[in-house]
Amino acid sequence: MSITNVKTSPIANQKPGTSGLRKKTRVFQEPHFLENFIQSIWTGIGGAQGKTFVLGGDGRFFNTEAIQIVLRMASASGAARVIVGQNGLLSTPAASHLIRKRGADGGIILSASHNPGGPNGDFGVKYNIANGGPAPESVTSAIHAATEEISVFRILEAPDVDLSLTGIAQVGRMEVEVVDPVADYAALMEEIFDFGAIADLFESGFRMRFDAMHAITGPYAKLILENRLGAAKGSVVNATPLPDFGQGHPDPNPIWAKDLVDAMMQPDGPDFGAASDGDGDRNMIMGRGIYVTPSDSLAAMAANATLIPAYKGGLSGVARSMPTSLAVDRVAEKLGIECHETPTGWKFFGNLLDADRATLCGEESAGTGSNHIREKDGLWAVLFWLNVLAARKCSVTELMAEHWKTYGRNYYSRHDYEGIDGGIANDLMQGLRAKLPTLPDSIVAGLRVVAADEFAYDDPIDGSRTEGQGIRIHFSGGARLVFRLSGTGTVGATLRVYLETYETDVLDRDAQEALDAVIKAADQLAMIVKRTGRKRPTVIT
Ligand code: G1P
Ligand code: ZN
Repeated sequence: MSITNVKTSPIANQKPGTSGLRKKTRVFQEPHFLENFIQSIWTGIGGAQGKTFVLGGDGRFFNTEAIQIVLRMASASGAARVIVGQNGLLSTPAASHLIRKRGADGGIILSASHNPGGPNGDFGVKYNIANGGPAPESVTSAIHAATEEISVFRILEAPDVDLSLTGIAQVGRMEVEVVDPVADYAALMEEIFDFGAIADLFESGFRMRFDAMHAITGPYAKLILENRLGAAKGSVVNATPLPDFGQGHPDPNPIWAKDLVDAMMQPDGPDFGAASDGDGDRNMIMGRGIYVTPSDSLAAMAANATLIPAYKGGLSGVARSMPTSLAVDRVAEKLGIECHETPTGWKFFGNLLDADRATLCGEESAGTGSNHIREKDGLWAVLFWLNVLAARKCSVTELMAEHWKTYGRNYYSRHDYEGIDGGIANDLMQGLRAKLPTLPDSIVAGLRVVAADEFAYDDPIDGSRTEGQGIRIHFSGGARLVFRLSGTGTVGATLRVYLETYETDVLDRDAQEALDAVIKAADQLAMIVKRTGRKRPTVIT
């Protein structure tokens, strides 16, 4: 087996976005595209020599081929060991846990998260650091810089490694340890939650439906929910991971998990419903007849955290991404704990979690997590809710009604305009930016602006500053409007408009109705219809 130095040249647009490098699968399959990026990871982290990495992916189309390439490149650059999930599979939270548990130097996760997979879908590569979390900006910029200067990549000429059996294999001089992707993760969940109480809940006839959306969480959910906790067989649906996610869109929200929503809205539907995404880090929570927004879920979890064994001593603090609703802020205020507002993307939570300034974190985009790992964690969130329901012996509807009575309700929605022209999207944002100084005290769609700015984040731990993280407009009475462009899309630009209003009296309105004035204000301020020609959003969640 010999190592080849392959001559190459920089490929444009290899800049990692909100969550790693995401492109069309076909782009990743182009000559040298994947190889250039992997070699640039090694360069960006100061070399692979003697290091141990964790490697796995969500099983999407091209996962198997990519895993073999990464193994041969890790070996060629002198890595000592790669711990890889059996058949090349690892959910994102399981990979994060494995990096931490095994003291690895880092990990490579192959996934485009909730984006569709397949030859015409998306693929992605993300590098995580030794704390188990996504690489911070300093590392991703070093990787990006390397992609712009690369002239050669190193790869071992070797046959594919058999990843179907657990155990030790060899790729050149590098050791490859093939591990069961579920076992360690399941053990961690058992340490965090009261499995006995959840098992009793199922024993008493509590019914749930978990939709794995043909993605990675199927095997994890089957083992934990059905086999260990005793949920009825068949509670986990779409449980076999498929390379194209059954041609679906593995994003757990009311649009893409419509089957689940329909089942949960039946009068005799299950007591609890949940779904997860392509790589297992997102979650959707429902009760019979009720969808819990991710922002509300974070707030309810924070308010009930001490019912969970791992958090019974209380939370050190909470953190939410800026566009996430202010519901959790109210809980933090009542608990007297810190509440941090960070830019979009999980990488900004890592420092706060490491420094124990936050225990729970969340994003409006269906991501919640805690200090147990350094990624958001879909199944963990589901178990959290089950544990709370088991302890409180109430329904999701009752729990949320009581929550809103105590804290008021932050009606919330996100309107996405996908695939718009990049130039138009930038002009729209620039137009808003230019208006900011004139907005305070003005009235828009009947709402009075109290503050307007472009969000910048000063990390309290490492002092780094991240600018240009979205336009925020606060109105009197607690309503808020946020505009930002997506950093994960692979076609054109996606404008995200985050809408929120706060009420303490009427707690059971339809969210879009409650948000009517804020929606109108969004269009007046950004001239969305006029600029984009779109009469309505592509996706409303
Ligand atoms: C989206 C979400 C963001 C999440 C990211 C990765 O990023 O909005 O909250 O962290 O996916 O799952 P965006 O496309 O908005 O940049
Ligand atoms: Zn994901």
